[in-house]
Amino acid sequence: MNSVIIENIGKAVKEVARNRGSEWWYTPHMAAASRAIAERIPLVDLVLEVRDARIPFSSEFEQMRKVRTSSRHIIVLNKMDMANRSKTKEWIRFFEEQKCNAIGVNAHNKENVKEFLTFLQARVRELKKMNQSAHTITLMLVGIPNVGKSALANALHQVGRISAAEKGKLKHSIVSPQPGETKSISSLKIASHPNIYVLDTPGVLPPEVIDDGVCSKLALTGAIKDIVVGEINLARYFLSILSLNDEYKKWGKLFGTEIGDFIVNNVRRTVFEAVSSFTGNLENGEDIEQLIENQFKVLKKAFHLPLDSEETNDYRVATKLINLYRTGRLGHYTLDPVLSNA
Ligand code: G4P
Repeated sequence: MNSVIIENIGKAVKEVARNRGSEWWYTPHMAAASRAIAERIPLVDLVLEVRDARIPFSSEFEQMRKVRTSSRHIIVLNKMDMANRSKTKEWIRFFEEQKCNAIGVNAHNKENVKEFLTFLQARVRELKKMNQSAHTITLMLVGIPNVGKSALANALHQVGRISAAEKGKLKHSIVSPQPGETKSISSLKIASHPNIYVLDTPGVLPPEVIDDGVCSKLALTGAIKDIVVGEINLARYFLSILSLNDEYKKWGKLFGTEIGDFIVNNVRRTVFEAVSSFTGNLENGEDIEQLIENQFKVLKKAFHLPLDSEETNDYRVATKLINLYRTGRLGHYTLDPVLSNA
């Protein structure tokens, strides 16, 4: 992996984070939400820690590390449609070996959300066996920003087995009485008999900046706003991942048989040709820099960009490339290597 690109991204994030109370890192909203979440953790029946399946390690919600909720804690690897399928399975196995419940979900897939709800109801039945008196169950979704907490809460509410009159009903509670720090935690009903409610909480990043590699993955997957790191840095980082991954090799076999999006096919072909004709050493940082430079040049053509200023075109290549990555059209990557229990 290209350490210069990762260092640059880390530097940019640290710059922003140093300014406490910044509007991008540990904001006053996040601090207030963090306190509200800490107060509620002991009160709810289950805490669903939502992580991004593409970065099951880097998207950890730090607050959960400190709070031991054991069997009441479930790790939900959301956006699994964007991650490498077999790596998600390996990650789930890793968490289970750590005696932590884990499940993969795609909040955009109705059938999958139904299965998730069935899984949650089974956990709730186990809880009720332990505590006969509980007739209303509360689950709380927690996590860093952009992992899909709201999407999951809404999807569970939509597929939830509740009456039509209850659909679309939302309760709000305020997490902080301080002016300028208020941010609501919403509560949605997702099942009846027993009644199950899910609390959707605001995303919170860790108060202290983490290592450059983690920052880079959070930025590429959208947990940190693009403006902090800059689109060109993000696209360069993505190209370095793409060039070192086997995914692009599959594209070579598709040439001549491609159907679908013309631009996507063009980009795949361009990246494939640029990497496979590259004679440098992919393990060497300077060589990778050179490859990325070349890829930016040829991608301008692939995206049919008008001959404009260098800077404008680099920015356009970057935004288009990031968009293709984030919509899964350039493959499904799990950026965190699976940890070993050994
Ligand atoms: P948050 O509450 O944790 O901050 O995340 P939120 O639900 O707002 O989701 C962040 C983005 O991730 C949204 O995209 C959402 O649609 C997308 N998303 C959530 N779950 C999944 C999933 O399982 N798979 C995929 N592929 N995407 C998911 P957006 O572009 O920011 O918003 P929108 O245009 O979809 O409304």
